[in-house]
Amino acid sequence: KLKLAVIGGGSSYTPELIEGVIKRADRLPVAQIDLVDIDAGREKLEIVTRLAQRMVSKAGLDITVRATLDRREAIKDASFIMTQLRVGGLAARARDERIPLQYNVIGQETTGPGGLAKALRTIPVLLDICRDIEELAPEAWLINFTNPAGMVTEAISKYTKVKALGLCNVPIHMHHDVAKAFNVDFDRIKTTFAGLNHLVWMSDVRLDGKDITGDLIEKLCDGAHMNMNNIHESPWDPDFLRGLGVIPCPYHRYFYMQDEMLAEEQEAAKSKGTRAEQVMKTEEELFELYRDPDLDIKPPQLEKRGGAYYSDVSLNLVDSLHNDTGMINVVNTVNNGAISNMPNDCVVEISSVIDSGGAHPISMGALADNQIGLARAVKSYESLAVEAAVHGDYSKALQALTANPLIPSAKIAKSILDDILEQNADYLPQF
Ligand code: NAD
Ligand code: G6P
Ligand code: MN
Ligand code: MN
Repeated sequence: KLKLAVIGGGSSYTPELIEGVIKRADRLPVAQIDLVDIDAGREKLEIVTRLAQRMVSKAGLDITVRATLDRREAIKDASFIMTQLRVGGLAARARDERIPLQYNVIGQETTGPGGLAKALRTIPVLLDICRDIEELAPEAWLINFTNPAGMVTEAISKYTKVKALGLCNVPIHMHHDVAKAFNVDFDRIKTTFAGLNHLVWMSDVRLDGKDITGDLIEKLCDGAHMNMNNIHESPWDPDFLRGLGVIPCPYHRYFYMQDEMLAEEQEAAKSKGTRAEQVMKTEEELFELYRDPDLDIKPPQLEKRGGAYYSDVSLNLVDSLHNDTGMINVVNTVNNGAISNMPNDCVVEISSVIDSGGAHPISMGALADNQIGLARAVKSYESLAVEAAVHGDYSKALQALTANPLIPSAKIAKSILDDILEQNADYLPQF
């Protein structure tokens, strides 16, 4: 019998997770789900918990779903701990998105300075959670969805003993978009991913075993859809894409089309608002639906959020770990030589065989010349950011931002960093 602890249980994504558990009831003997939140999230937590209880009972399953503010109680005896929290809420995210825009730098929740700000707020909280897991459930798996997922997972791998894997829905979303572009079932497509979180490339795309990577690139050159709901879909330059030879993820647009993406963000910030400001409205609508005592399924409106298919990534992983399947899942895990020209001890996002022993990344050889420079630069930024977040180190934070290819100078990095530290003072006890 399995107990799951979901930290950040008041998230509007929780019904996704519950749906994932319900779909796999024959494979996963889940007996209890503890949804954990903090006092500020109490109301959301209660609404989501009641919906989760209705979903489970409609499915005819005997699963106890509980709301609790006692994180340690939830972690105790858990087999899987899922983290999906947002320190500072959407208001903090909106500040992360607006600060860089004042300096003509990409303002995004995970890519660029916004990701640094989120990492500084979030990593100490995750390390704290890991201390509880080390003490109360040392055998449990931590499945981290909390962004910036790559950096958070790297901090956990470097500073704790917890068995942890980081997740993102971008790879599975791209896989779905390939299936849609070829108008075939998801299962007939095979994909391979290597890179970093929100900087992952897809290669060796197969349909019934046949290599269709080149055909896919041609479809993308012709404007086929491959994107996430939270990202503006600027079209790719066909010559660039053909030369790249692999498929970039939607977040690569922030690097490869920095000027266009920045212009779009500046415009949105003046009209419809930044993504966080838009999501605040979507979230209100979702919770209005969740309150309805007659609602007992995941409402389709949740798909407006960027996290679509989260339940499949997360519960497929639980299935592989619990049932020792040896299935391939894309996870954030320690590189250990899988990408031969990236540091061994850094966390990468990579297709991996998952069994009860954890993730075994597939050996990818070297990233090509037109990928490795960007991947190394962004990884330098990330690893410096992890040090800054763990130790409250101003100098490392400044080195991190300046190393990020989206920031034009040390001077601008410093102005942005100072704004971040000032506007997040309540959430940065380490500084
Ligand atoms: P949200 O604003 O709804 O926050 C989720 C919950 O976390 C809230 O109920 C909040 O009260 C709670 N919380 C805040 N601090 C906490 C703490 N210290 N301990 C426990 N709970 C705490 O956020 P959301 O939009 O549902 O997103 C949740 C997280 O998932 C974010 O970090 C987001 O970036 C991430 N996310 C990741 C992916 C991915 O691909 N990995 C996709 C979507 C969202
Ligand atoms: C997906 C990503 C997440 C990201 C989210 C944003 O693109 O994989 O990591 O944070 O969507 O979605 P939102 O609806 O909150 O803007
Ligand atoms: Mn993601
Ligand atoms: Mn899509």
